[in-house]
Order: sequence, then structure tokens, then C-alpha cells
Amino acid sequence: MARQLDVNLLFNEEVDQHHRALLEQYDKLSEAVQQGNSSTVITQLSGFLCDYSSEHFDAEDKLMVQHCYPQTDPHRREHRDFERDITKLKKKLELEGPTRKLAVAATGILLRWIVQHVNKSDVDMVAHFRKCQEPEIS
Ligand SMILES: [Fe+2]
Ligand SMILES: [Fe+2]
Repeated sequence: MARQLDVNLLFNEEVDQHHRALLEQYDKLSEAVQQGNSSTVITQLSGFLCDYSSEHFDAEDKLMVQHCYPQTDPHRREHRDFERDITKLKKKLELEGPTRKLAVAATGILLRWIVQHVNKSDVDMVAHFRKCQEPEIS
């Protein structure tokens, strides 16, 4: 099941690619949880999320600064909160191993992130970037 990116999110090729990759990871994990074979997927996901968060958040940060985005600070705070969730997930994985319970929890974390941040905060951010690029009417 390939999920399409919200058209309101499309702005920058690199950032768009990160969002696509995140949705793919979410689909892969939720499918694996349903099929009862999440242990390999959850381990891969943990590695992916660590790389994803540092690269993706850096890229969004640069764009926010470039476009003088007024919500930069609250947006950054949401990124930090997600990084904390990822760190907790990684620690649990190291302590408890790739359990189904952890995979289900990870699915919830990712879904909440996609719904509350990607589809809302990131969409608002992109709307601002697009507005900055519109030619001014004098
Ligand atoms: Fe994002
Ligand atoms: Fe973001």
C-alpha cells in the first residue's frame, strides 16, 4: 500500500524525499505488525529514524531560517520532542529486544508524528515557504 504525499507538502526535492521515505517506513512497519513479523523491521526502523531525524530536521531548519519562518521555534520544539521519542524507542529496543509490543508502540509514535506534525506543522511551514516565493504585486 503506497501512500501518496499530501500535495500541500511538496516544496523541496530533498525534504519531499524524506517525507516519502518516512511514509514508506510507516507502511512497512504497520504491515509487518499485522503479519506478525515485525522484529527485523523494528530494528531497521530504529536505525532509519536516527538518520532521518538528523538529516531531515537539518534540511527543514535551513529552509525555515532562509524563509524567516515565524513559527521556527515551536516547529523546532516538535522536532526535539520526536527525537526524544526516537531515543526512548532505541533504548527500549536495546533493553527489551524487538518485541511485538515495541513495534506496536512504534507504529503509534509514527502515526501520531505523521498526522500531527508532517500533515499539520510541516504543511503550515510549506504554505509559508510558498507564500514567500510568490511575486509581490505592487
Ligand atoms: Fe518534515
Ligand atoms: Fe518538521
